[in-house]
Amino acid sequence: MNVGEALRRRISVRAFKSDPLPESVVRDILEVARFAPSGGNLQPWKVVAVAGGERRSVTALARANLPGDAGDRPVYPANLWEPYRTRRFKLGEDMYALLGIPRENRPARLMHLVQNFDFFGAPVGLFFVIERRMGHGQWAHLGMFMQSVALAAIERGISSCMLEAWALMRAPLHKHFGLAEDEMVYCGMALGYADESAAVNTLRSDRAEVDEFAEFRGFSGDRG
Ligand SMILES: Cc1cc2nc3c(=O)[nH]c(=O)nc-3n(C[C@H](O)[C@H](O)[C@H](O)COP(=O)(O)O)c2cc1C
Repeated sequence: MNVGEALRRRISVRAFKSDPLPESVVRDILEVARFAPSGGNLQPWKVVAVAGGERRSVTALARANLPGDAGDRPVYPANLWEPYRTRRFKLGEDMYALLGIPRENRPARLMHLVQNFDFFGAPVGLFFVIERRMGHGQWAHLGMFMQSVALAAIERGISSCMLEAWALMRAPLHKHFGLAEDEMVYCGMALGYADESAAVNTLRSDRAEVDEFAEFRGFSGDRG
């Protein structure tokens, strides 16, 4: 699989098969992803990988702490503006349509939200940890690392879903993992084999066209 294929094939999978993922495979993915770049080569990330009983423990922890609280680093800015508001809304509507859950059925939508904390059935969960005193640059670099993990995974036939829903569980996770005072869980990630029969996994989210987000200046007009 080349890089372009990996970029296109990595999608957020929200229904996994229960087939286990051995530690050796998770290690192998991280072994490659660690070559992600970071400013000053700080490598400002730490990973906690959970499987088996530990995975079940964090799921139980989340259920016991619902609805949770993202604290001082909310998942989205308040009062999201256009075009982001519409993009977010459309993603949710497309996803719930595939799940067959209408907007009025709030309990069912909430039940689906809770599935984030069960890693959508994936056998492995990753948690990406950063130190609070790091600046916005280092958060961006952590994102590059996370994408590298997802791409290394898909190259091995393993699907993923990044799970910032876990931001709501930062405080209990901090305690549970015994993190240092300045450390925090930024985001989770489900890793495993996609359930190809699940309708939700047919979701293909929209993307803006290149001309909607890129300006080309100083080129010599070689298009076409
Ligand atoms: C940092 C990050 C956190 C995310 N958190 C969640 C999440 O908690 N639950 C979820 O279902 N999807 C989550 N997603 C998936 C996004 O909704 C998804 O990446 C986006 O809609 C694009 O779709 P695609 O990943 O299928 O290409 C997250 C994505 C990123 C990059």
